[in-house]
Amino acid sequence: MANTKARLNPAIWPATARTDATSGELFLGGLSVSELTERFGTPVFILDEADFRARAVKFKEAMEKIFGSRSNVYYASKAFTSIATAKWLAEDGVNLDVCTGGELAVALAAKFPANRIEVHGNNKSVDEIEEAIKVGVRFIVADSLIELDRINSIAGNLGKKQSVLLRLTPGITAHTHESIATAHEDVKFGFSIASGAAMLAAATALNAANITLEGVHCHIGSQIFDETGHILAVERLVKFIADVQKSHGVLLHHLDFGGGFGIAYVDSDDPMDIESVLTRIHDALTQQCAKYEIEIPSVAIEPGRAIVGPAMVTLYRVGTVKDVLLEDGKTRTYISVDGGMSDNIRPSLYGAEYSALLANRNSNAPAADSRVVGKHCESGDIVIRQIALPSDIVPGDILAIPATGAYGRSMASNYNHILRPPVVVVADGTARTIIRREKISDLLALEEG
Ligand code: LLP
Repeated sequence: MANTKARLNPAIWPATARTDATSGELFLGGLSVSELTERFGTPVFILDEADFRARAVKFKEAMEKIFGSRSNVYYASKAFTSIATAKWLAEDGVNLDVCTGGELAVALAAKFPANRIEVHGNNKSVDEIEEAIKVGVRFIVADSLIELDRINSIAGNLGKKQSVLLRLTPGITAHTHESIATAHEDVKFGFSIASGAAMLAAATALNAANITLEGVHCHIGSQIFDETGHILAVERLVKFIADVQKSHGVLLHHLDFGGGFGIAYVDSDDPMDIESVLTRIHDALTQQCAKYEIEIPSVAIEPGRAIVGPAMVTLYRVGTVKDVLLEDGKTRTYISVDGGMSDNIRPSLYGAEYSALLANRNSNAPAADSRVVGKHCESGDIVIRQIALPSDIVPGDILAIPATGAYGRSMASNYNHILRPPVVVVADGTARTIIRREKISDLLALEEG
């Protein structure tokens, strides 16, 4: 059987994705999409366990190889989190970044060791800070002076001393969509190095009785395709560490340069090779530390998208197909699927591109200029704006959209009272639900009128 199946572009599809040479059917984790959709319905997110774990471990091993055994990888929960994935990460030695009480609750429900969790957010509530300190998280990444004050007093009330990193704004414009670029100056995140806010924050944290200031953090944006931004950020962070040492005689020994590593969504995307990117960042870090004569800090990163993105595929069922005559006389085929912007807001929000495969069968029909759309009541509800798909697609066919693992299910909504899809894990010919499909009763349970 195996040799009759063809591997799909590994940059976009999970490791176990294959198409059957005869039937053309897509297999994920050894299971056909017909079987998966029969058992779990559509739309459904299929998560390839082997692929997710391999990508996470690859980051960890690359970090250890390049930055040494004191380095850490914190998986960014916001990309997608669940009890099952948190358990895998715990087992595989990958740490966790959370940015809300909800994400922390999932980690704790998975019995994720609190001392391997770091807590982000630009407006953590008092309750969130209190819970984080109580359970003993490794780091809280402080984002404002008000927050430093809160952390200090809450830790004091609990009779604890909390390890803190400062989120710094290194003043870099990463080449990505404006909403997901985070470290230029005019943003809500962090303390600006250039304005002096960061130095004031360091002095405040060093003077706070219940805070141990251990290091600095930045995150310059997401879906980044070249390493120059990260390198510049690391250089600025090292200079800041040197300045703090000069002014306060304290060496901040930890540097976390966030996530943001881009992935391929369509064949033309060319993501960076992680090992070579990390090597270049490492070289810049060591040079900068030598220049300022400071010890090399321990280093951490926080990839989210690059671990879970390509590990998941969305399966939709086609509901209607119609040809629309365009102004230039050409025709576009509108293929409506049974989900849309409620399970993938990224095309509408960021103009994100995706690819698609007719997943349940072969087709020799000529390609048609197509648009894959959802079932929501607005015309911006587009999954793929333009794609060539076989012209014989009919209701009942299954479309597979790869690379939907990051910020798909995690940004899903109930717009139009649509039920959010389940997440099903496939591994070695088995499948199990890790997040079940919502039911109408879940929605009605919120009603108190
Ligand atoms: N660390 C911090 C502090 C972050 O804010 C983020 C993402 C990450 C790590 C992980 O970044 P990644 O490796 O996944 O790029 N919803 C947008 C992405 C927003 C990213 C927010 N922060 C999207 O769908 O593209």
